[in-house]
Amino acid sequence: MGSALDPAFRLLQEHAHGFMVSQVLFAACELGLFDLLAEAPGPLDVAAISEGLGASPRGTELLLEACVPLRLLDVDTRGGTARYANSELARAYLTSRSPTGQRAMLRYLGSTTYRCWGHLADAVRQGSNQYQRAFGVPAGDLFSAIYRSPAERLQFTRGLQEIWSVDGRRVLTAFDLSPFHRICDLGGGAGALAQECACVYPGCHVTVLEVPEVVQTARAHLPLQTEGQVGFREGDFFEDPLPEADLYILARVLHDWSDEKCSRLLARVHHACRPGGGVLVVERVLDADGRGPLATLLGSLNMLLQAEGRERTAAQFRALLAAAGFGGFALRRTGGVHDAILATKALP
Ligand SMILES: C[S@@+](CC[C@H](N)C(=O)[O-])C[C@H]1O[C@@H](n2cnc3c(N)ncnc32)[C@H](O)[C@@H]1O
Repeated sequence: MGSALDPAFRLLQEHAHGFMVSQVLFAACELGLFDLLAEAPGPLDVAAISEGLGASPRGTELLLEACVPLRLLDVDTRGGTARYANSELARAYLTSRSPTGQRAMLRYLGSTTYRCWGHLADAVRQGSNQYQRAFGVPAGDLFSAIYRSPAERLQFTRGLQEIWSVDGRRVLTAFDLSPFHRICDLGGGAGALAQECACVYPGCHVTVLEVPEVVQTARAHLPLQTEGQVGFREGDFFEDPLPEADLYILARVLHDWSDEKCSRLLARVHHACRPGGGVLVVERVLDADGRGPLATLLGSLNMLLQAEGRERTAAQFRALLAAAGFGGFALRRTGGVHDAILATKALP
């Protein structure tokens, strides 16, 4: 018997090949594997799946085999023929018909984000995003690069919506927001979190302030299911007057921007906010020492590659909010992907 493999070498192997796992997931989604299996009357063999996908039998077989230990598929080998079905994970998150499906975000990660990550060393050298290298588009005006075509804009906007079907209620109930009736979701995308908010707090009205292209994309392609409780306002949160509100939501917005731009935005929010009102910041908050969680540290690198900000600790958020005039800082770890911070504007 050979000697045990050095655990450090095993770890190195895992790290070095980690990107292959993501690519299996992205390819299976792109090929439509999970939808094919969701629509089938029962588990399918390789021949039926390769025919259904219009893909080679050899490639299909290898992809299916890899999906099983990744727990994307279940396999039944009774009778000598392998038959595949969606796993619980795939049924919940990888099919178009699932209300908690995440396919648009996976498509975005597999195309735009993956290409940017191919330039990580350049991003570290230069300290800036990689849209020029990855897509040949100027990166100075951040969201013009992200929204470089209507199709890209739709994919990003649709992808951003999906997480809130899983994580929205958790961040919205981390604090009792029922005292806030007029809510403004700044940079609220196509309104998925706003819609969830309207559901959780039937007494509120949410205005989503977004850049005009996103509002138009939302109206044309991503209709909301709320009874007039959510509305859109086109505008630039750095330049245009902010709608009056009791509560401002900033979900995954501050991490896009430098401290200087966050300070500018928060000062504007404080100015517009009703006394006694507040701001709800929804982000993945770093541990107090800034050393984890790993997913959040990777999120910071993603901000280097795709934006100009970073993920932050609670103390860093507290300092930014305090400098803008907000007090009563409270952080709630939700146990989900995102955490919630509430800060308030004092009554005179
Ligand atoms: C990372 S996304 C987060 C979207 C949404 N809050 C969510 O968590 O799903 C940042 C959003 O900010 C919007 N945004 C960027 N710059 C903006 C600006 N100057 N004014 C208004 N919205 C802006 C973008 O269009 C984008 O939808």
